[in-house]
Amino acid sequence: MAITRRFFRPTWAEVHLGALRENLRRFRRRMPRATKLLFVVKGDAYGHGAPRCARAAQQSGLADWLGVSSVEEGVVLREAGIRLPILVLGSLYPFESFLAAVEFGLTPTVASLDSARRLVEVARRRGRRVRCHLKIETGMGRIGMSPAAAVEAARTLAEERLVAVEGVYTHFSCADSDSKFTAEQLRRYKQALADLARAGCVAPLRHAANSAAALRLPAARLDLVRPGLAVYGLYPGFVPVLSLKSKVVFLKTVPPGAAIGYGATFRARRRTRVATVPLGYADGFSRRYSNRGEALLGGRRCPIIGNISMDMLMLDATAAPGARVGDEVVIIGKQGREAITAAQAAAVVDTIPYEVTTALTGRVPRAYLL
Ligand SMILES: Cc1ncc(COP(=O)(O)O)c(C=O)c1O
Repeated sequence: MAITRRFFRPTWAEVHLGALRENLRRFRRRMPRATKLLFVVKGDAYGHGAPRCARAAQQSGLADWLGVSSVEEGVVLREAGIRLPILVLGSLYPFESFLAAVEFGLTPTVASLDSARRLVEVARRRGRRVRCHLKIETGMGRIGMSPAAAVEAARTLAEERLVAVEGVYTHFSCADSDSKFTAEQLRRYKQALADLARAGCVAPLRHAANSAAALRLPAARLDLVRPGLAVYGLYPGFVPVLSLKSKVVFLKTVPPGAAIGYGATFRARRRTRVATVPLGYADGFSRRYSNRGEALLGGRRCPIIGNISMDMLMLDATAAPGARVGDEVVIIGKQGREAITAAQAAAVVDTIPYEVTTALTGRVPRAYLL
């Protein structure tokens, strides 16, 4: 008998590329026509799978740029045949990675004076014109140069005609929560741009805004916006792209007092229908959902009972009396009239939707819907 399936364990993430394209369209519609869009696909496209998401964006013609966190992430995209310009958003260290960035046609971020000097060396060695974006620190406290250091870096780069400053950017820390602080960051950034202009550095791409800033603060849109969250449908007003699904693999009814899971942290108070689902913390589904989360079964919300194991969890399926082995379970997504969003799931364990989707490990196959 020929075995044709690669995946037998019925746990998977559905990634709806049509929804992703729709979100790109919606996002673009809300931006001025001339504003370019850099789609952030770092962290394996927030767990959605970077090569497929990047290809969908490229084919749709709705993204002008892609953003990754490291050279490694950029190389994966180049090897998958992605031709869009790719900005490496992270600070490049060790500095040899500048060489690799240039080799693979990735645009590096220069976030320190030291790295500006190293990029000049790389350009000289390669004897090839290199582009970069300067990163300005305005209040995120992560990576980036003070305005004075940026001016110094721009001068260093200008000495070497092989290096062009194509962009100057910053990043907001509270665009979704503190409009005053965001406005202050924007003010500091514009001051840095003015300092750079006085030193003769005027970059064609000035950018600052992530999803929240681009949608809430029109003044932050500038030449290019850098959404991630909204394109994955993890921001209000956009269509969720990822659903996490599994199936019931074992079903039983237990008497009052029965213990469920490691540590016997759950005891049945009544006769309880218990469904076992093959999803655990080795799939990236946090153990913090133990006795707290919910999943959809038979169109009903069913509580997670007991501790999450490495490979399985249990649901109180009493609310879904018709449930059978093989029935679909939705952990994130829609079933019937019910839905659990990544944001709702994140709130249960006091985290953010970014962490919920990026946490999903390689053991969870991604099924792409076109
Ligand atoms: C530098 C930078 N720009 C843009 C984004 C996209 O942010 P969001 O997913 O909130 O739109 C990120 C993500 O963290 C980032 O680090």
